[in-house]
Formats: sequence, structure tokens, C-alpha cells
Amino acid sequence: MKTMKIMVALGFAALAGCGSTATQQQEPSLKEALKDKFHIGAALNVDYIWERDPKADELIKYQFDAIVAENCMKSMFLQPSEGEFFWDDADRFVEFGEANGMWITGHCLVWHSQAPAWFFFDENGDDVSREVLIERMRNHIHTVVGRYKGRIKGWDVVNEAILEDGSWRQSKFYTIIGKDFVDLAFRFAHEADPDAELYYNDYNEWHPGKVATIVDMVQRFKAEGIRIDAVGMQGHFGMDYPSIEEFRAAIDAYAGAGVKVMVTELDMSALPRPQRGAGGANIADTVAYKAAMNPYTAGLPEEVAAAWDKRMGEFFRLFIDNSDKVTRVTFWGVTDETSWKNDFPVRGRTDYALPFDRDYRAKPVVKEIVAMGNR
Ligand code: XIL
Repeated sequence: MKTMKIMVALGFAALAGCGSTATQQQEPSLKEALKDKFHIGAALNVDYIWERDPKADELIKYQFDAIVAENCMKSMFLQPSEGEFFWDDADRFVEFGEANGMWITGHCLVWHSQAPAWFFFDENGDDVSREVLIERMRNHIHTVVGRYKGRIKGWDVVNEAILEDGSWRQSKFYTIIGKDFVDLAFRFAHEADPDAELYYNDYNEWHPGKVATIVDMVQRFKAEGIRIDAVGMQGHFGMDYPSIEEFRAAIDAYAGAGVKVMVTELDMSALPRPQRGAGGANIADTVAYKAAMNPYTAGLPEEVAAAWDKRMGEFFRLFIDNSDKVTRVTFWGVTDETSWKNDFPVRGRTDYALPFDRDYRAKPVVKEIVAMGNR
């Protein structure tokens, strides 16, 4: 009996010791604290979707009430060759969200990146005609949105079509179809699920030129009766960009144009920025690895961690103060270990971009956000 008691006690001690997440769950959750403010979400990679990481699984279900697929709903994965769709991961993602009562976002229907090459070319390798590309886009959108009709609450319809200076990205969609590819994409998505919310999603959406073009587009959509519910501001931040004020001005501009704002891909790199200029998230910008660019492989120095927490807290203050405009804030991942920032824009770095560390422990800012939400 005595031995039994000791074993039970040891068992509990072991659980408490290794179970940083178990301990954490005595803390109030983000979703509970923010429930009157906005949805709080995370992007799920394929391991998370299939619940292969029990500690992350526990965190996701406990902390978040919204999910988005990090990769598995991009066109190169959903339709790797024409007319052949692969649904396993996406189906499971939607089931995961439904089983846990979450707000499910589909990401993304039309994007120049992570699209299969066949989409834009004919059998001779030449660009397809405008008509063919429109038909491929229509078919892709109708098939994907139609499959999850009534289950996926909102779609990133078009991703990253506009550059920082406000000009249009010269993507295949743009050069073959023209800028009305965006209008068509939104119309097709609306046809496929009239109840789904529809979003325009992009990075660096605080650059004034980009803001101006997006505001024009939103206003034109409204005037022409094309459904658009929100601008998704990706939110891949660095320690020195954007400023809170720049971000606030952009939120105000989008809200002023008559749409909600969602912070759709939030993370904040703690590492030096390799390129001059805008930072951002254009995945073609990968630059060569340099040791100087990877200074914190043995852990994040306390003062950098504190600065990271402070800045992330300031952004949440902004989001909470604007919760009449901001309807969702979604982190691009869960823990530092699996963040795409470890490989972008430089491969193989050790970054600290997310609210949970490599041991699944909440960073101090999580507690602070909970306190802000409850106030
Ligand atoms: C990223 C994923 O996180 C990576 O795993 C993948 O290798 C590349 O794409 N903007 C977007 C996201 O809209 O889809 C991108 O996700 C990050 C930038």
C-alpha cells in the first residue's frame, strides 16, 4: 500500500515535471480570455492535423478557437495534376476543426506561389489562354469550396496579388487574365458557397501604397456587389517592423473601406533581418545562410526575449483596442520548433517567432494577453 502511494506520488510528480502543458492548462486560456474580442487561432501543419504531436494537440485544443491549414489546402497539394484532387489532409483538417468547435478558415484558393505548374501551361509548355486559365481557376475554386460548403467559415480567396508600392504583382494570374482575376476568383468562391466569408490576404499590408490599392479594390467590390468580408493582414513581423502606428493606420483604412480586419499569419522573428527594405514574406526571397544571421542557436538571451514579449504584447493591446474591427487573430503555427521562420528567409536558423517555446511552454506574453482580454 505504502509502495503504491509512493508510486502514485512519483507518477504525479513526473507528470507535473514533464508536463509543462499540463501545468499551463491550469492557467486561463487565450480563447477564454478573448472570447468577447475576436477569434484566436493557429495554423496547423500536417502533423498537428493528424494529432501526431500530443503536446501540441493539447495546446491547440486548449488555447485556440480557430484554425487554418498551413499548407495542405494550397493548390499544389489539393490538385497536384489537373482534375486529380488529394483530399486526405484537408478533410482531416476540417474534421479536426468541427470536432473541436473551431472557426475554420480555408487557405488559400488563388496564389501565385505553391500552385502546381500545370495550372498555367498547355501541353507544349506555353501559357494557356485567358479563357483556359479562368476555367481552371473556376473549376479549382468550385471543387474545393463546394466540397466544404457550410463547413469552412471563410476563405482566403486571393493571396498576395499586390506589391508594397501598390502595383499589381506580375503573376501568371495577372499576366494571363488581367487584374480582374481577383474579381472572378471572389465571384467563383461566392457561387460555390454563398454563406462563406471571403477574404483578400497579403503580407506587409501596412505599406501605404499597398493599403491604397487594397482600399480601392474593396470599395470597387462593394460598389459592384462582389462579396468581400475582410482583409487578412498576414502579420509576419520583425523586431523593428512594422511600427504599431503603421499597423493601426492600416487597420483603420481597411475598416474605413467597409470590411473587417483579420490578422491571419501572426509571428514575430527575433532574428536579424537579412535583407534591407521591407522584410515581408515573399517566399522567393530566400537568401543564403550566414552564421551571423543565426545568433541564438543556444537559446534566446533574456533581454531579447523580454523585448519580444513586450512588442508582441503591444500588438495585442492594439488588436484588443480595435476589436470592433478585428474579428480574428491567428498565429502562423504553435511552437517555435515548427515555425516556418526557422527556414525563411534564411534556411536552418533557430528563430523564436511564436507564443509557445520549444518545450511547449507559454511565453510570458500569453499570460499578459489573457490578462488584457479579461480586463
Ligand atoms: C508558408 C508555410 O508556413 C511553409 O511551411 C511553406 O513552406 C511556405 O509557405 N504567406 C502565406 C503562407 O500566405 O501560406 C506561407 O506559408 C507564409 C507566407
